[in-house]
Amino acid sequence: MKVAHLFLLYFYSTAFVLVNTIDPITTTVVVGVSATLGRTIWNYLHENCNPKWIAFNATGLEADLESKLFGQHIASRIILKAVNGFMSNDNPKKPLVLSLHGWTGTGKNFVSNLIAENIYKEGMDSSFVHVFTAELHFPHSSQLDTYKAQLQQWIKGNVTNCARSMFIFDEMDKMHPGLIDSIKPYLDYYEKLDGISYRKAIFIFLSNAGGEDIVRTALDFWNEGRAREEIELKDLETLISLSVFNNKNSGLRHASLIDKHLVDFFVPFLPLEYRHVVQCAMAEMKARGLQPDQNVADQVARDLVYFPKSERVFSVKGCKTIQSKLDYYT
Ligand SMILES: *[C@@H]1O[C@H](CO)[C@@H](O)[C@H](O)[C@H]1NC(C)=O
Repeated sequence: MKVAHLFLLYFYSTAFVLVNTIDPITTTVVVGVSATLGRTIWNYLHENCNPKWIAFNATGLEADLESKLFGQHIASRIILKAVNGFMSNDNPKKPLVLSLHGWTGTGKNFVSNLIAENIYKEGMDSSFVHVFTAELHFPHSSQLDTYKAQLQQWIKGNVTNCARSMFIFDEMDKMHPGLIDSIKPYLDYYEKLDGISYRKAIFIFLSNAGGEDIVRTALDFWNEGRAREEIELKDLETLISLSVFNNKNSGLRHASLIDKHLVDFFVPFLPLEYRHVVQCAMAEMKARGLQPDQNVADQVARDLVYFPKSERVFSVKGCKTIQSKLDYYT
């Protein structure tokens, strides 16, 4: 709105000058200068596909992952390495494809936001960041063919506008396998498809698939008295791809995304413990400009439900309900 108002003002003042100019040469000069100036101002104020609006902040991403994401030593390391590597490569051979897996509320959405915020000035509000949700965008399986055509057109149109586009697919496990199949060409190593290169785009898939297996591994470590930080990617990696394949309800099951190694990184998110929920609550208070209060954070964390029933180690909803709980306690 603000940008539009400024432009209106600019337009009127230019028109005013023109109306009051009779000399044709002066008019031509005013029109020319005005057009150039107008374009410059517009580009300055209005988001476009230039480095002013799209510039990767590696230190920003690292600092954010360090200070805002809790209990995810594996995910945070992979994400940083993957995004750093991709963004510093001027000539990537394929788009970056990340598949984020884990229990609800463990930070998958949050991490996608952090990535977007450290690439696009406008963050998640950027017109180059696109979020698709199975239930919202593709709810009726009877319309599959329409959805396929639409999604392909969206990806194509947006990447044509800006090579550095980002596509986030939420609830990937609820997407129809056919729909996933339809985007495969864009994830691949092609130099160009119909004259368009997709190699600078970023695709992020979010799903709960594999979440239960990740929980089981984390619980095994806990039961053996081993530190959570000892869990390594290799303890989880095969689990993720196996469960993604074996889950009957998983949209990834029939799609050969994994076969073809189109996914560059599988990123596991561990279930969150009490202490992480406390950290989330403290961070949220700080983000709201409040003095972080340990007592309040403990109160919030105690309010949540933990599983499994006997051990009560992991928060059922992760850090998901922290915000509304905080509204209640502060
Ligand atoms: C870009 O994607 C959005 C959906 O996020 C869609 O509505 C829009 O039409 C696409 N733009 C083009 C040029 O295809």
